[in-house]
Amino acid sequence: MLVKFVKNKIVKLILAVINKMRKINCYKRVMLVGATGLLLGACTKNPDSPGLEFMPDMYRSAAIEAYVDYGVVAGNEVDSLTMRMSARMPVQGTIAFSADTSKAKFNYPFEYLSPEQDPTAYELAAKNLKNPIAYSIEVEAQGKELYGKFCAQCHGTTGQGDGKVVEWGNFPSPGAYDKKYKETTEGQMFYTMTYGKGLMGSHASQLSKEERWKIVHYVRTLQNSGTNPLAKQ
Ligand code: HEC
Repeated sequence: MLVKFVKNKIVKLILAVINKMRKINCYKRVMLVGATGLLLGACTKNPDSPGLEFMPDMYRSAAIEAYVDYGVVAGNEVDSLTMRMSARMPVQGTIAFSADTSKAKFNYPFEYLSPEQDPTAYELAAKNLKNPIAYSIEVEAQGKELYGKFCAQCHGTTGQGDGKVVEWGNFPSPGAYDKKYKETTEGQMFYTMTYGKGLMGSHASQLSKEERWKIVHYVRTLQNSGTNPLAKQ
């Protein structure tokens, strides 16, 4: 009984809609059908998809921005836009420009090759490479801050080779700066920070040359019972 009643109601409703459609003029009818089509056309199964893109340049900027693959936006792929030029490596041999001439020297390529390219480079750097940054308490303080962020987790805050990574286990202690590395020269430190050594990875991508040299000043302090040998002079 109830089913029949509901069925009747639905049929009546459909008839009413058809009747109304008859009354509105042809132009309006096309508009109505078109608008409904557009609305439904924008629906897709993927909830993350923006659906049909009516104005694609709102989603895909015409200007090229670094690190953006315009071929894929929210799972929607447009092959012709994939992997257009965005971020690229500088041309080999390019040297960054520095308006501050006192810093320009840090932009030159590092003259000591990696241990793979030149097995003698480590020894040569240890002997000949000197810190280009003059010592000062400020520079040492900056080195200390960087050391706390990039080195202390392994080498320990006081350089005893007892950082958190070692404390938690499964990582051997590198050894203390004032014992095992007492004789390590500044050139050697810089070289190791640049290319890594054994279990220690390269820090060249995280720290600029200038930052690495500032850290060297602080490691020299840790190597000498908290007093930098250059501070006495
Ligand atoms: C992942 C842990 C880890 C981090 C982070 C790390 N080191 Fe090391 N470091 C080691 C280990 C392990 C060694 C011993 C390498 C070897 O001789 O095999 C080492 C060795 C060294 C040496 C001795 C190099 C030599 O020539 O014998 C110096 C100096 C040094 N680290 C400085 C630093 C500085 C400065 C930082 C921060 C920029 C740093 N380390 C970050 C683990 C680390």
